[in-house]
Amino acid sequence: MCLTRLRLIRAIYINVDCNKTLINILLKMCSKEAAKVVLPPHVLIFPLPAQGHMNSMLNLAQLFCLSHFHVTFIVSEFNHSRLMKHSGTRSTFERYPGFRFQTIPDGLPDDHPRAGYRIMDIIPSLINDVAPYFKKMLIHNGLFASANRRPVTCIIADGVLSFAADFAEERRIPLIFFRTVSACAFWTLFYISQVAGANEMPIQENRMVEIAKTVPGMEGLLRRCDVPRFCGVDDTSDPSLWEVISLTSQTVRANAFILNTFDDLEQPVLSKIVKHIPRLYTIGPGSAHLKSRLGENKVDTSTPSASLWAEDLNCIEWLDAQKPKSVIYVSFGSITTVTREQLLEFWHGLVNSKRRFLWVMRPDSIMGKDGDQIPAELEKGTKENGYMVEWAPQEEVLNHSAVGGFLTHGGWNSTLESIVAGVPMICWSYFADQMVNSRFVSHVWKIGLDVKDSCDRVVIENAVKELMEVRKDEFLERASHLAKSAKTAINEGGSSYSNLNDLMEYIESFIV
Ligand code: UDX
Repeated sequence: MCLTRLRLIRAIYINVDCNKTLINILLKMCSKEAAKVVLPPHVLIFPLPAQGHMNSMLNLAQLFCLSHFHVTFIVSEFNHSRLMKHSGTRSTFERYPGFRFQTIPDGLPDDHPRAGYRIMDIIPSLINDVAPYFKKMLIHNGLFASANRRPVTCIIADGVLSFAADFAEERRIPLIFFRTVSACAFWTLFYISQVAGANEMPIQENRMVEIAKTVPGMEGLLRRCDVPRFCGVDDTSDPSLWEVISLTSQTVRANAFILNTFDDLEQPVLSKIVKHIPRLYTIGPGSAHLKSRLGENKVDTSTPSASLWAEDLNCIEWLDAQKPKSVIYVSFGSITTVTREQLLEFWHGLVNSKRRFLWVMRPDSIMGKDGDQIPAELEKGTKENGYMVEWAPQEEVLNHSAVGGFLTHGGWNSTLESIVAGVPMICWSYFADQMVNSRFVSHVWKIGLDVKDSCDRVVIENAVKELMEVRKDEFLERASHLAKSAKTAINEGGSSYSNLNDLMEYIESFIV
């Protein structure tokens, strides 16, 4: 049976809920083989329990649901209760009968911080506590099979969850890893043990701008300060670093690999990755891809985001009152924390730049904030030019005509969302992949500035002026060009569009 006809039958099967009994009788009348084919693939998706990772993988889950796949999405109990409280996720997924959440503990006590460098504690707790739980849960629940649902036919796990590979190999279930970082960051991490071996890690402050030559294809580009760091320890003996190195080296164990990027953006690096992992699917930018496919399927494209915090929509009204491209949006994602000293440097820099700013300050993002007074000049400057929220509808903000720049930590979702919106960036990196992303923003794609990890008030003031005024036209022109190529990739016939179709056919091939 051809795939299109098969998908049509599955669509009828999944959507005609009231007539399931009738269809089940019809299925029984078919041969066992035919019945098997009519039931869609059942994909188990398991992201690392953090906002950025979850966002990318929920987008993929929805893309699968649009093709009538069954999806079981693993989410930590901690995040699930926040998702249900703050986002429209419940209503979004209610429209997909084939979708279900499955909760799992994340191994950390509820009061354990899940921001800042302490987020890294989640990796050992996943390996030690969650991995055995995951295995038992799947076996005990018969791989989540039910009358109208196959047992899981494919696992798509976050690329840092190597225990999923142990389980998949043991049970002979096809496994696909999804790494939610950029191709350039993944490739650097893939080579990082050699980088460490060649003594090119960011160890000594005065050698930070020396070129790190060990990552193939990045010889003239990557400096020691651009190499990923974890937990802020500039030390090759940092256990978190070695944990990530070990997890990254296991990517090759999967049957296939997914990256949330697009070919035009990262072709040179992708052509290197594919030599190690031949079955590579680039399907990004995921969020824009989803919106485009929802439109194609005539489904409401204004999908609410899967935020773990309540979005403050008043900032859109504030933006409505601002001039075109006059506002710099400031957000450091879901994990970053800053000290009070860093906060004040950013704040002075923004106020002194005299530009309008919209700043996301997560409640858990400032260390040691209690009891300290805000200097009067900052209060005054913010009243005149600024607006602060605890969490924003980021994609809507970036696509607002008043926004002309983005001061970001360079998390990969934020970077891609900014690229799609054609908004130039100032990157201040906090940790991990962000170090590499910011270098590519400034020196490869040339759509912004990289201040690395410096938040000195003068550096920030000058960077804002350079982005929003001095080099505004040059950055906007390149950003708008890149936004166009992102859109080409996700439209019918584009690379990400075709790759997603190929990926779905590959997943279907496990059952046909
Ligand atoms: C983490 C890593 O830091 C990042 O580098 C990696 O690529 C994925 O995991 P995070 O730090 O949260 O993620 O950054 P990012 O990848 O940018 O994801 C943040 C997400 O939260 C984005 O999708 C963004 O749209 C959303 N967001 C952020 C909001 O919806 N509202 C906000 O106010 C801030």
